[in-house]
Amino acid sequence: MRLVRVPLGNRSYDIKIGPGLLPGLGKACVRLGLGNRCAIISDSNVAPLYGHRARQALQTAGFASVLITVPASEKAKSLKTVQACYDQLAAHRLERKSFIVAVGGGVIGDLAGFVAATYLRGIPFVQAPTTLLAQVDSSVGGKVGVNLKAGKNLVGAFYQPKLVLCDLDTLNTLPKRELRAGLAEVIKYGIIYDANLFAQLERDMSKLLRGNSQTLAGVVARCCQIKAEVVGQDEKESGLRSILNFGHTIGHALEAISRYGKYLHGEAISIGQVAAAKLSNQLLGLPATEVARIHQLFRRAGLPTELTLSASQIGDAFGAMKLDKKVKDGEIKFVLARRIGAVQFGCQVPEIVLRTVLQARS
Ligand code: NAD
Ligand code: GLY
Repeated sequence: MRLVRVPLGNRSYDIKIGPGLLPGLGKACVRLGLGNRCAIISDSNVAPLYGHRARQALQTAGFASVLITVPASEKAKSLKTVQACYDQLAAHRLERKSFIVAVGGGVIGDLAGFVAATYLRGIPFVQAPTTLLAQVDSSVGGKVGVNLKAGKNLVGAFYQPKLVLCDLDTLNTLPKRELRAGLAEVIKYGIIYDANLFAQLERDMSKLLRGNSQTLAGVVARCCQIKAEVVGQDEKESGLRSILNFGHTIGHALEAISRYGKYLHGEAISIGQVAAAKLSNQLLGLPATEVARIHQLFRRAGLPTELTLSASQIGDAFGAMKLDKKVKDGEIKFVLARRIGAVQFGCQVPEIVLRTVLQARS
């Protein structure tokens, strides 16, 4: 098992990464000194695979648990689902020391974390992420929340989990399209922080796509380490943390204008990162050879990289970007790359340059 610590003073926590970890969930919760009642929040795909296993592990360790299953969809990241979860927590008589376990992908982690942050003004929660995307990114760092019609993640909180348990065995049942979507966040860490990781991904992409467990373990741990280092320095995104949003301003806009139906999050940010690389070339001098390497790596991961927006869709995308949380004084701020492994945040992008990149076919 690999261990990464997220250093946040009295809110520090461990990320455990390895195969066969889910059966140890109950014992791990005992060590955290949590109350004896809990709720597992999962989705309709994951609950039959792992929800019951998680429940068994908690019950064996002496916890009384209820399993709350929500529909498997980005659309479940809504205030309506939050309300339905609150009702079930109340029915199960969860108290202040009770806790929530999120068993699922990023949708479940974000939703369950938001429910935990707000129910009884906050109860503890544990993340048991089951997608690659959630293991390398969304389960770590404490951003929790739900979507509004107007845009992604517009209601939420910074609320750290007590533990993140990444059982790599759960990735065996993950659909290939979802594995690829997770690779979009993995590649992101290479671009924003670690040129060696990027080069390793260029070498090992086919192993990762085959689900090679040794390679996955090393890569998941490295991504978690990077996220822990960034969040440890800037928990609430006053500066540095925004580098984690590379490609996300455009990606979130694509998700919003397609009403969270056409693209998976990872696919949208793949397109967004390739577009951000092109902007970086024009505005920060990211060498064209590096833009090409970035483009090629997303393609090799089997991810979409192309944009074909009509004039009215571009208008909608601008509208969505202006609602993004990265907007400051009405200006959309971008994270751009100087080279692979080094980025700059808070960059202004002239509207005309952005329009050209959004219109271009890759
Ligand atoms: P997801 O949660 O929708 O899961 C993807 C699909 O895979 C779902 O259909 C799910 O039911 C299924 N699934 C999950 N685990 C499985 C498994 N082990 N076996 C079989 N099927 C499985 O999507 P995701 O890509 O994990 O997360 C995307 C969400 O994460 C988005 O809402 C995004 O905004 C959010 N996100 C949040 C952060 C953050 O910092 N909080 C960071 C990145 C992304
Ligand atoms: N995924 C962006 C962040 O955690 O800040």
